[in-house]
Amino acid sequence: MDKIRNFCIIAHIDHGKSTLADRLLQFTDTVSEREMQDQLLDDMDLERERGITIKSHAIQMEYDFGGGKYILNLIDTPGHVDFSYEVSRSIAACEGALLIVDASQGIEAQTISNLYLALENDLEIIPVLNKIDLPGAMPEEVADQIVDLIGCNRDDIIHASGKEGIGIEEILKAIIEKIPAPKGDPAEPLQAMIFDSVFNSYRGIEVYFRVFNGSIKKGDKVKFVNTGKVYDADEIGVLKLNQESTNEINAGNVGYLISGIKVAKEVKVGDTITHVDNPTKDAIMGFEDVKPMVFAGIYPVETSEYEELRASMEKLQLNDASLVWEPETSVALGFGFRCGFLGMLHMEIVQERLEREFDMTVITTVPSVEFHAIQSDGGIILVNAPSEMPEPNTISHIEEPFIRAQIITKSDYIGAVIALCMDKRGAIKNQVYLTSDRVELTFELPLSEIVFDFFDRLKTISRGYASLDYELIGFRKSNMVKLDIMLNGDKVDALSAIVHREKAYEWGKRLCEKLRELLPRQMFEIAIQAAIGTKVIARESVRALRKNVLAKCYGGDITRKRKLLEKQKKGKKRMRQVGNVEIPQEAFMAVLKLE
Ligand code: GTP
Repeated sequence: MDKIRNFCIIAHIDHGKSTLADRLLQFTDTVSEREMQDQLLDDMDLERERGITIKSHAIQMEYDFGGGKYILNLIDTPGHVDFSYEVSRSIAACEGALLIVDASQGIEAQTISNLYLALENDLEIIPVLNKIDLPGAMPEEVADQIVDLIGCNRDDIIHASGKEGIGIEEILKAIIEKIPAPKGDPAEPLQAMIFDSVFNSYRGIEVYFRVFNGSIKKGDKVKFVNTGKVYDADEIGVLKLNQESTNEINAGNVGYLISGIKVAKEVKVGDTITHVDNPTKDAIMGFEDVKPMVFAGIYPVETSEYEELRASMEKLQLNDASLVWEPETSVALGFGFRCGFLGMLHMEIVQERLEREFDMTVITTVPSVEFHAIQSDGGIILVNAPSEMPEPNTISHIEEPFIRAQIITKSDYIGAVIALCMDKRGAIKNQVYLTSDRVELTFELPLSEIVFDFFDRLKTISRGYASLDYELIGFRKSNMVKLDIMLNGDKVDALSAIVHREKAYEWGKRLCEKLRELLPRQMFEIAIQAAIGTKVIARESVRALRKNVLAKCYGGDITRKRKLLEKQKKGKKRMRQVGNVEIPQEAFMAVLKLE
């Protein structure tokens, strides 16, 4: 066990984690040149394309710098705030962390939040100043920030470039010399923590775990403590570039388990694996079900594709346990699904995967957070769709989720950032200068205000020099109302939203204007109205088309006519007919782009 090191890499998004991981794998000959592809650990297509790590992965390296062979288990972590729960479990499986900071960017919000997670878990931190090859690198200044942040010696900071392969050997040495070997007792009952699971269409769910005590052998009967489910360990092994099956994995080490599990939901990240005979008394750590933060309806564009969409969602859920959904009906859109996502990025990913992997064309409705409708007897009704909002006179009040947000920006932009957060109904709670021109601002804000365009606006007003991290802090009383949209007098339920009363007028007005731009003109005038209850608060109209498009064809040329109709049909791809009005997909998402 003293020759094992378990570590993760923590960094703000884009600071070069995946690139550096690739270099470590190359340097330790874990992969050959031929096998090497950029960002090897990101093996989902979507990950590569977006250049982000969506799921955590683990890989084992071997390295010998003269003192014997060491086993180094690298546990990769996602960098986006939507996936922070996975980061926390990966961190809990390690004894040390490389803290990577981009030398041209400096410390950002997720650098700090991930560092705190690592410190809470008593991880040894190895600071790495990355991308020193960049002309814009500011190694001295950023080193100062790192020293301030973690209180290390300047000399402890390794200067590196994942791109150029600088500092790689030094990092490997530091991992071996500074990160403590795992502790644990191989003779104790088995205690292994699940830090990730991956769906494989041939082999079922692969469970990634770290053994804390005891050992697991091929063929063992094991139990997952929290779910209470029992499995046979059909195959266990270590995670090299490819999986290598073994007969036993001992305390301190990391491995995978395959036991014919078909559904991702059965495997909870954070759960403890033990033996059915001689079980451990304690689960390794507290355990949370990951909660969705954002909800939206997903509907097939063609109503006839409902069953196909259901089958696709079921398959998607097999490998994405954080996706939750239930059937929903909308007057406007017909049969579809109400889905819960970890955040907006997760929502986009799900939509994209449905389209790419399952060839579905879907309409996504206005995203919403979960509100609590508090009844007069104190009971709570969960409201995660506008249609579920009770009549105001039947409840005591509404509560909405609040977050604590950490924003790191340049001091030049403090004013603009504060103004934005105030506009989003936020309150500033703290302001700390990290250096003379970088400041960390802490706000409390309603989650519903962050969900929409907050991050984009933050980036715009700060010219890209702002990073954001947040956590949920609880529910607070808020004056929320349901805003409905009517087209030619018909309420379009899929366009309803729950908004703060003070913002309802502005919101209604802008939404009507936006819809006026987005709705295609038709043979008749379309009246667009926004209403709270029965009170109309804004209106617009789309003028009627004068002529029939087909009139142009003078009735003569049938092929031309067909072509024109064909063209219209294609244009209809993402349209929905509601009453007699055609609504394009953009309209359902218009609220996201109200600014
Ligand atoms: P996420 O997985 O999304 O969190 O990103 P990441 O932190 O893994 O960053 P990634 O390795 O994908 O690198 C982000 C960008 O920085 C890519 O365009 C890389 O090519 C570039 N990059 C990474 N390391 C270096 C480096 O040492 N020098 C320079 N110049 N660019 C680098």
